[in-house]
Amino acid sequence: MIQFHNVTYTYNFNTDTCKDAIKNINLKILPGEFLAIIGQTGSGKSTLVEHMNGLKKPTVGEVFVSGQDIWQKKFDITKVRFKVGLVFQYPEHQMFEQDVFSEIAFGLRNNGIAETKIESLIFEALDFVGLPHDILNSSPFDFSGGQKRKIAIASTIAMQPDVIILDEPTAGLDPYSSELLLKKFKDYNKNKGKTVILVSHSMEEVVRFADRVIVMHNGEIKMEGEPRKIFTKVEELNEMGLDVPQILKVFLELRKLGFPARADIYTVEEAKQEFFRLKNLTKGGKSFVK
Ligand SMILES: Nc1ncnc2c1ncn2[C@@H]1O[C@H](COP(=O)(O)OP(=O)(O)OP(=O)(O)O)[C@@H](O)[C@H]1O
Ligand SMILES: [Mg+2]
Repeated sequence: MIQFHNVTYTYNFNTDTCKDAIKNINLKILPGEFLAIIGQTGSGKSTLVEHMNGLKKPTVGEVFVSGQDIWQKKFDITKVRFKVGLVFQYPEHQMFEQDVFSEIAFGLRNNGIAETKIESLIFEALDFVGLPHDILNSSPFDFSGGQKRKIAIASTIAMQPDVIILDEPTAGLDPYSSELLLKKFKDYNKNKGKTVILVSHSMEEVVRFADRVIVMHNGEIKMEGEPRKIFTKVEELNEMGLDVPQILKVFLELRKLGFPARADIYTVEEAKQEFFRLKNLTKGGKSFVK
């Protein structure tokens, strides 16, 4: 479990340009949950998640992982890094090795995994992200943005962390790869009982994959709950520069036109069923929708 207690983080502390990027955050993340974090650009999402594996130290407040205050003097912060894996928003920021093999092996070696086991864990990680095995001798810098992102994800997933944090993992990936990866993470969450934390700008991803969503605005948590409940608050979300899933908007528009459509349609399958329901509705003996 990860817990934040009154956490504030100030960039450029004690200078003229100081700025609170997150303010007074109280948050509990339970083992095995799939949590999404949304919020407009600059709202503090990356700053928030960088506190979860001890990459950033709160200016004020405490972060607890499995009940331990991770910034207590006696505590070994490297333990948290093995337990909580973070895939950066910009994957280049976490790459430094000469070849893909060493890049993915880095964390495993640091964690004391035997060399004999490392190769199979690397192959498994490449399969997870859908990359071929023959890239292991190439430089991680010689790949496209999307491929680098997959290598960064493979480096983190190879460690099989109890908690994996994905800071906009599908940015720069084609829709097919994005879908496949998110399904893999859902599977990692459901079948292995691991915690997944997803920072996303895609409301479709959030509603389909997350159990719970938190909404950040100006460094604060403004809303929190099940995605389907949060997305009923269309106006409040719009005021924070956020949208609802596109497919829901179709049905909200239909309602404005006088159709008795449901206002809680989030997936293509639900939309299909709702269209059939509307089609079969009769008004004055005629089909409501032609
Ligand atoms: N290195 C930095 N130095 C100073 N201020 C920073 C720095 N990084 C972020 N900030 C400020 O902190 C605030 C939160 O930034 P953060 O990167 O956490 O937002 P975000 O929600 O992840 O945005 P995005 O969706 O664009 O990734 C922003 O207003 C930004 O100006
Ligand atoms: Mg960010």
